[in-house]
Amino acid sequence: MKETVDILISEKAIAKRVEELSEEIHRDYINKDIYMLCILKGGVIFMVDLARKLPGNVELAFMDVSSYYSETKTSGEIVVNMDMKEDISDKHVLIVEDVVDSGRTLNFLIRHINKKNPASVRICTLLDKPEQRDVHVEIDYIGFTIPDVFVVGYGLDYNQRYRNLKYIGSLKFDLY
Ligand code: IMP
Ligand code: MG
Repeated sequence: MKETVDILISEKAIAKRVEELSEEIHRDYINKDIYMLCILKGGVIFMVDLARKLPGNVELAFMDVSSYYSETKTSGEIVVNMDMKEDISDKHVLIVEDVVDSGRTLNFLIRHINKKNPASVRICTLLDKPEQRDVHVEIDYIGFTIPDVFVVGYGLDYNQRYRNLKYIGSLKFDLY
């Protein structure tokens, strides 16, 4: 089975959108330090690009959760592989995700984070795939809304590959 990747969102379009999002976030967090919480591994490239565009105080933090287990479909179960290290009780948490699909991962994360009594929690996702949503989640910042296709690149993977692509592409399997 051969895989092909078709460009869905170009490097240039991503850069433009990241810039716009950073301006929006900057306006919303005036006089507030941001605790940027990257959901590994998919959110990492988006987070560093976004963080570098923000002129204010930004703390970088990481959490690793699993929900996909090397498959293109969710298992429904979310496991925390690595929790955040900091006490977030006075912090303004901005969750940075790669993609919201069923919404189960984010729903779990929001409840997990709220138990730690942060000052606020907001969500920023690079991609939103609303077609297969099972759980409603309120997303504050969305990079791009896309149809229900499996995408790779700019942090997103298929079996740990393609994360380093500069663009976002849709992954196709050619059967022959
Ligand atoms: P959800 O819990 O169904 O919303 O799944 C969200 C997680 O599934 C994301 O953080 C990704 O890690 C993964 N995921 C969902 N769709 C894609 C995709 O198209 N490409 C790569 N990973 C995906
Ligand atoms: Mg993810």
